[in-house]
Amino acid sequence: MNILITGGAGFIGVNLVSYMVNKYPAYNIVVLDNLTYAGNLLSLKSVENKPNYTFVKGDICDRALVDKVFVEYKINAVMHLAAESHVDRSIMSAEEFLRTNVMGTYTLLEAARGAWKDAAQDGVRRVFLNVSTDEVYGTLGATGAFTEQTPYSPNSPYSASKASADHFVRAFHETHGLPTLTTNCSNNYGPFQLPEKLIPLMILSATEGKPLPVYGKGENVRDWLYVEDHCRALDLALHKGRFGQTYNVGGENEWTNIKLVRRICELLDEMKPSPDGEGYASLITYVQDRPGHDLRYAIDAAKIRDELGWRPERSFAEGLRETVQWYLDNIKWCDDVRSGAYAQYYEKNYVGR
Ligand code: NAD
Ligand code: DAU
Repeated sequence: MNILITGGAGFIGVNLVSYMVNKYPAYNIVVLDNLTYAGNLLSLKSVENKPNYTFVKGDICDRALVDKVFVEYKINAVMHLAAESHVDRSIMSAEEFLRTNVMGTYTLLEAARGAWKDAAQDGVRRVFLNVSTDEVYGTLGATGAFTEQTPYSPNSPYSASKASADHFVRAFHETHGLPTLTTNCSNNYGPFQLPEKLIPLMILSATEGKPLPVYGKGENVRDWLYVEDHCRALDLALHKGRFGQTYNVGGENEWTNIKLVRRICELLDEMKPSPDGEGYASLITYVQDRPGHDLRYAIDAAKIRDELGWRPERSFAEGLRETVQWYLDNIKWCDDVRSGAYAQYYEKNYVGR
């Protein structure tokens, strides 16, 4: 396979690229990423000299470039991850979310349609795998879980843009017969996640003695999945998923935010006690809630389990401890990704944080 991975320099992207490059030495893995504030080549160092890996810096909205990539690298599979991914940023301004998440997805779909329209019956599986989120389903109350039949009801500009992209992906299958499928996954955690997201933000802020900002009362619930488990799900969906289908992916691992932040503080108290001897939990600060904050996400992953044989492998106790250790061991990476475009963005837009 010649696989185009979009957004391969972001959090899930770098984990997926490394997973695919190492697992499939006979595949060619081509990354297309325009290195926004969220993408960083430093995170791809472990694969940069691998013969089956190529990096192309570019925008998924650039149709001429995307067409060229399809032709030049004979792309027959797409794993589409490039996106604006942070809910808080979409609340401040949604324009870039519309451009990248909606127009970018549409551009890729048209390029795939063009490139694959005359594909001979050569026995090669062509597939456009759209990597999406559980946030398209909106929010749950205290009970229940999202299934693939749950109606879309996105509440944030981010999830509205992802929902729109998902609909285009489905429509291109129905209308044009493009071999597409979508996965909708819950919250990922693990190495290389940007410190704008909850888990790395709490680890880094705590070790720097800064307040730990918990939105509202901290009672919102998220379902956390180790990023490598997500990568295995994407691998299975790419090879065995049915076209025109969606597959929910989740960890069956629900935590209220406050319980999770307290757990991170306990781990840090043990692994890197604070110099003044005070527990890190004393830094927890309740701040104004996120507007439109979804109360609870939970995934029913029965379909991907029964059809594709996927289940999460990494326990949260083990994965969270390893993740905390990874950030403690990789302060230089954290400092590097927080400089440059990331720092400029947050200095300009995140006054008071
Ligand atoms: P991320 O923000 O860490 O990375 C996004 C990557 O996309 C960056 O490398 C960025 O440079 C690139 N990118 C952005 N705009 C681009 C453009 N116009 N052209 C080319 N590249 C562009 O995101 P992530 O957390 O790794 O998420 C990856 C995908 O998975 C997203 O589609 C997201 O919606 C989805 N997802 C994320 C999670 C999660 O918990 N992080 C869960 C479910 C689904
Ligand atoms: O569910 C999948 C989604 O998970 C992905 O589609 C998104 O790309 C990804 O960013 C993530 O979205 P969340 O909004 O759930 O992730 P975030 O890390 O921003 O927040 C997790 C929870 O923690 C959420 O309830 C908001 C809360 N939070 C977050 C931050 C950054 C805080 O309480 N304080 C914070 O400072």
